[in-house]
Amino acid sequence: MAPRKIIIDTDPGQDDAVAILLALASPEDVDVLGITTVAGNVPLDLTSKNARIICELSGKVDVPIYAGCDRPLGRDLVTAEHVHGKTGLDGPDLPDPTLQLQDGHAVDFIIDTLRNEAPGTVTLCPLGPLTNIATALTRAPDIAEHVQQIVLMGGAYFEVGNITPTAEFNIYVDPQAADIVFKSGIDIVVMPLDVTHKALVTKSRNDAFRALGTSVGVAVAQMTDFFERFDKEKYGSTGAPLHDPCVTAYLIRPDLFTGRHINVEIETESELTLGMTVADWWGVTDRARNATFIGDLDSDGFFALLTERLGRL
Ligand code: RIB
Ligand code: CA
Repeated sequence: MAPRKIIIDTDPGQDDAVAILLALASPEDVDVLGITTVAGNVPLDLTSKNARIICELSGKVDVPIYAGCDRPLGRDLVTAEHVHGKTGLDGPDLPDPTLQLQDGHAVDFIIDTLRNEAPGTVTLCPLGPLTNIATALTRAPDIAEHVQQIVLMGGAYFEVGNITPTAEFNIYVDPQAADIVFKSGIDIVVMPLDVTHKALVTKSRNDAFRALGTSVGVAVAQMTDFFERFDKEKYGSTGAPLHDPCVTAYLIRPDLFTGRHINVEIETESELTLGMTVADWWGVTDRARNATFIGDLDSDGFFALLTERLGRL
């Protein structure tokens, strides 16, 4: 079967980095048409720099990278240096990139790519706030029917919030954008904290990354060593949750994941619950089912896939 054509929209972020590396290590499964950056974990200039660092680390320097929106649609940017460090990629000591950004805006790249590729053949993979995706859908409504699927990391239900008591970071940063995406009618698969908090980099899993002995393996071990301290302190978890790599792994091995097709709506008004993904997991409303909400994964299978593929780089 031909590899899936994808655009990765991202705010690197150590977990974004691992998701990008997994994609670039899997050309038989995914064809990365481009990487678009968005403000999120850190400001846009740093997410754009980090995307270039990650592509150079992988050795795949022919993937075009476009910078996108530098702030959410309707509110001030909230960043997460407390989780990812001031660079957004703290942990490994990686060289500044020589790879350049493409000219042009990420939103234009998303629109043009969807219009130029055969309809229904491109999957969008947002790993950060949905600002770029929502801006593209608003500026060019015709592209919605061109999208094969959106597979995104964001939201939470049983796991509740990680940035407020009720909201997950990606959705919280830009709730208006998330509302546009979840109402777009596009086939959406959601990787919420409910599943990503089960993809924990335990010490043995981190040791397996380091044992690859490659620059990628060691860098991923160092990234997850740094990245885990927030979740260990907050949740007492046994390692860093690999949120964003769940998106890439789903594209490669969807059988590793289980979920339900349900209604998911976004709180965009209440300051108390802003950015909450209101997931009708038990089907208690007659609201239209608009998303496949993933609740579980085979974590050993996930890490076996991830470690094998990272070993290719
Ligand atoms: O809440 C986790 C999400 O927020 C991940 O995508 C992480 O990279 C941050 O963007
Ligand atoms: Ca991210």
